[in-house]
Amino acid sequence: MSEAVSGAIPRIGEVAPDFVAETTQGVIKFSEWQGGKWVVLFSHPADFTPVCTTELAEFARKNDEFAKRDAKLIGLSIDSIHSHMAWLQNIKERLGVEIPYPLIADIDMKVAQKFGMLHPEASSTATVRAVFFINPDRKVQALVYYPLTNGRNIDEVIRLLDSLQTSAKHSVATPANWRPGDKVIIPPPRNVEALQQRMARTDMEHVDFYLGFKQLEKPSS
Ligand code: BEZ
Repeated sequence: MSEAVSGAIPRIGEVAPDFVAETTQGVIKFSEWQGGKWVVLFSHPADFTPVCTTELAEFARKNDEFAKRDAKLIGLSIDSIHSHMAWLQNIKERLGVEIPYPLIADIDMKVAQKFGMLHPEASSTATVRAVFFINPDRKVQALVYYPLTNGRNIDEVIRLLDSLQTSAKHSVATPANWRPGDKVIIPPPRNVEALQQRMARTDMEHVDFYLGFKQLEKPSS
């Protein structure tokens, strides 16, 4: 498995770079810490900044939603471990929120470089707001970048994770604005035989030969 080149942005389908880093929960080797789960790795520009504080707290409030999906959260910024610890304490005191996931102290920017999180026209010292969705095989499945000034929608992060996991599990695509429980898209046929088989299917709704929807069975609870 070849990893993305350092400094470049790891692309969809590429193996996410591995790294060893100090975090608020101790030193980790990313591939071992991942432990065969999905990972949502997100960067934020800096500690003790207002937008980042709201994002960290909201990720923390939704931590159980990620755990339910067998996904682990991990944050990163170019700050020291002591700054991270002081900030987490401050968030606990001011907002009453404990941060249950690790924060990487990337003071030498090594991890940020590996994930292409530094965009010099935005800032040469602070990471932009990147989110990497990494599957259990450590392959990047989606990546989202926001600028310094605009906070992310954590519900959308969860929605995209649901969508990626549904595609991976059922080999389907998901339409615009898809939410769990909505119909999925069966990818278009690639040859005449597959087309004929598909059009004979009664378990899906055919809008046209290339556009077909299916209701997935609800998981038994
Ligand atoms: C913030 O998190 O509030 C922030 C960080 C860097 C630049 C602008 C805003």
